[in-house]
Formats: sequence, C-alpha cells, structure tokens
Amino acid sequence: MQDKLIINKAIPEDAEALLTYMNLVGSETDNLSYGSEGMPMTVEQERIFIERMSEAENQVLLVGKIDNEIVCVGSIDTANRVRLAHLANLAITVRKDFWGKGFGNAMMEALIDFCKSTGVHEQIKLTVMSNNERAISLYKKHGFEEYGYMKNYMKVGNVYHDAVFMILYI
Ligand SMILES: CC(C)(COP(=O)(O)OP(=O)(O)OC[C@H]1O[C@@H](n2cnc3c(N)ncnc32)[C@H](O)[C@@H]1OP(=O)(O)O)[C@@H](O)C(=O)NCCC(=O)NCCS
Repeated sequence: MQDKLIINKAIPEDAEALLTYMNLVGSETDNLSYGSEGMPMTVEQERIFIERMSEAENQVLLVGKIDNEIVCVGSIDTANRVRLAHLANLAITVRKDFWGKGFGNAMMEALIDFCKSTGVHEQIKLTVMSNNERAISLYKKHGFEEYGYMKNYMKVGNVYHDAVFMILYI
C-alpha cells in the first residue's frame, strides 16, 4: 500500500481538503494541540498560509496523498529570526485509518531530507505528549533524542498531558 503514497509540497488548491483533514485528525487523538475544531482558519486564509509556506526556503508543508486524498501531513517551520534560522520545528500527522502502514516513516524521511537540503538547518526539534508511545518510537527510530520534559503542557478538557521535547542534530 505504501507505494501508492505520493508526498508533495501542499499547493493552494489543497486548502479546503487540508482544513477538513485537520478537523478529522484533531478528532481522532488527544495528542495534538487541536481537536475536532481543527484550525481556526478560513479556506482563503489557509490558501495564503500554503502560498507563504511554499515560497519560504526554510519552511515546508508536505501532504501525502493516496488516490488524490490527503492521508498524512508534515511541516517544518522556522522562526523568522537570523539567530534562530538553524532551528527547525517539526510536526506530523497521519489519518488514523492509515496508521501502521509506514506513512509516518515516509513523511519523517521527507521532512528530515528537506531540512538537510536547506543548507541552514542544523537541528530539528519537536514536542510530543509523554503518553504518545507510537510517535515517540517513530521519532527515536529517526534519531531524535529527548532533551526535556514539561508537566501539564497541554490541557484536554480537565485532563493534563505532559510533554517530551525531542531534538535531532543534522
Ligand atoms: C504518530 C504517527 C505519525 C505515526 O504514524 P504511522 O503512519 O502510524 O507510523 P508508521 O506506520 O510509519 O510506523 C513508524 C514507526 O512508529 C512506531 N509505531 C508504529 N506503530 C506503533 C505501535 N503500535 N506502538 C508503538 N510504536 C509504533 C514504530 O517505531 C514504527 O516503526 P516500525 O514500523 O519500523 O516499527 C501517527 O500515529 C499519528 O499521526 N498519530 C496522531 C497524531 C500524532 O500523534 N502526531 C504526532 C504528534 S507529536
């Protein structure tokens, strides 16, 4: 099944499908910073966001599709400050009905390859909830190591989730 996955940079025409995708993945897990409400953005705002991401040399928004349907998303964003330009922030999601098929691995490889290609990134960091064993295992597999821990980082309803901070030096 994995050979049907096609990963590309998001294009403005993906805006509506991306917002729908984020509503869905937000509803499927408590491990993200958003729930079923997804992103508080209109389709037009999302189009502009995608355009900005695709124009930036040190940022990327990747969508993985099967039969033209979004099944995974990954992003690298970088602060717009010279002193922080070497530091990439990584985020990744896979639709729940496609978990365990290697798409997380494929997206991680694409994101790390992007960072290696920019010529400016030296470190990739991410934040993951401490009980998200699947994601932590994925990140460790790609060389990330834990560098910090924060209690009560996220509050889902009345339930607090602790965060693990991870980094990869490239
Ligand atoms: C975390 C996530 C991205 C993994 O994606 P995936 O497509 O299921 O991952 P893959 O099938 O490529 O598996 C990659 C690795 O994840 C780990 N993994 C997969 N299934 C696992 C399981 N049941 N238990 C523990 N680790 C598991 C393994 O290290 C695996 O490598 P392997 O196949 O060589 O053993 C996906 O589950 C997801 O999007 N979850 C919800 C959103 C989320 O938590 N995002 C991360 C926020 S920090």
